[in-house]
Amino acid sequence: MQKKIFVIHGPNLNMLGIREPAVYGTMTLDEINTSLQELAGKLDVELDFFQSNSEGALIDKIQSAYGTADGIIINPGAYTHYSYAIRDAISSVSLPAIEVHLSDIHSREEFRRISVIKPVCKAQISGLGKDSYLLALREMASKYVK
Ligand code: DQA
Repeated sequence: MQKKIFVIHGPNLNMLGIREPAVYGTMTLDEINTSLQELAGKLDVELDFFQSNSEGALIDKIQSAYGTADGIIINPGAYTHYSYAIRDAISSVSLPAIEVHLSDIHSREEFRRISVIKPVCKAQISGLGKDSYLLALREMASKYVK
């Protein structure tokens, strides 16, 4: 059966295209999702896209992956740096997860260098723009949801 991967985008990622283009580029979230969808077709996996600005909604979505999805690709946005609740949600569902960032969080402000999410993920991919997501999908499909 085709494997299903949740692609979860956190706060302010709905503003891509408008938001700080020098940092995040000019692509919109829809354009990123379209590129992911194209790659998913080639890799023969199904994607389920979700974006929210609210921590609780992100947690509800992660919890809903239990029993329905095979893996999670997540850009938690600023929640990356302090949301123990999102981290616990990822641990709770015991699914392979990959953390993604458009910008290189390690070469920006000090507070962005810390990810409380990374320890519960298989990998963190940061700084490649849209390609961070595409690489995460390739890795997820080839290594974790076979
Ligand atoms: C981000 C990096 C975070 O520090 C920031 O708060 C975001 C976007 C990224 O994709 O580069 O919202 O996750």
